[in-house]
Amino acid sequence: MSRFDRFPDSLQIVVIGANGGIGSALIRELLLEPKVGKIFSFSRCHEKHSVCHDKLIHGYLDLENEISIQQLGATLSGERLDIVLLATGVLHGESFQPEKSLRDLSLDKLNKLFAINTFAPALIAQQLLPLLAKKGPAVLAALSARVGSIGDNRLGGWYSYRASKAALNMLLKTISIESARSRPQTVICGLHPGTVDTALSEPFQRNVPEKQLFSPEVSASHLLDVISALQTQDSGKVFDWAGKEIPY
Ligand SMILES: NC(=O)c1ccc[n+]([C@@H]2O[C@H](COP(=O)([O-])OP(=O)(O)OC[C@H]3O[C@@H](n4cnc5c(N)ncnc54)[C@H](OP(=O)(O)O)[C@@H]3O)[C@@H](O)[C@H]2O)c1
Repeated sequence: MSRFDRFPDSLQIVVIGANGGIGSALIRELLLEPKVGKIFSFSRCHEKHSVCHDKLIHGYLDLENEISIQQLGATLSGERLDIVLLATGVLHGESFQPEKSLRDLSLDKLNKLFAINTFAPALIAQQLLPLLAKKGPAVLAALSARVGSIGDNRLGGWYSYRASKAALNMLLKTISIESARSRPQTVICGLHPGTVDTALSEPFQRNVPEKQLFSPEVSASHLLDVISALQTQDSGKVFDWAGKEIPY
């Protein structure tokens, strides 16, 4: 039994963010799936990442460089893609932390987070949507975050991260409307992976109960369960790791 029974044989999957905590776990989990034929993985690393496998083909991608994103489309042109997973994102860096207050906001930080979390996924969708299989199920899913929900924002703070994910959700919804016209079987969606033990969440894990902190493997496994069960009516929505819809 495969999660991907209703998908065609020799699935071709793209994973962007191959060196990230969740991205690399998604690749390891996908390599266990008998139906997977090829995984095209991309990251800022030129070399192959830690996982070596004959089904894995690795390429370079810098999300902050539009030419690099265009090259991604050129590299994959001619391929039939079934699933595209965007597992990249940024919350903090060497010189910046999520804002506690409006006082902490800066144009540099907003630009950085929107470039990586919002603009790059939309530009990648522009390149890769035309390559997704037209006949049969296909999925383009981007890792979003529960804190990007406007309706669910009770704590405030994290201005640029929250806003970049809310805007990502809007772009995914808009892409889904356009894509439904020519590719009714393609699902475009955002996914919340849970709180996952990766470099991105590491500085903020102190108050997270142990049971609520997933390993990347556990999160990847949940996410693949959700992705493989997506139906056309799910397009444009955001789901958490358990498959529960998150309100905009
Ligand atoms: N971890 C959590 O608790 C959590 C919760 C909610 C949502 N998420 C979302 O899940 C996604 C994955 O996060 P993660 O936890 O796996 O974090 P992570 O381990 O820090 O991985 C983030 C990935 O993004 C890549 N990236 C950042 N800037 C890039 C750029 N300019 N060009 C190319 N790649 C770039 C990183 O590449 P390098 O390896 O080259 O740095 C890394 O692979 C993010 O969208 C995040 O917002 C995570």
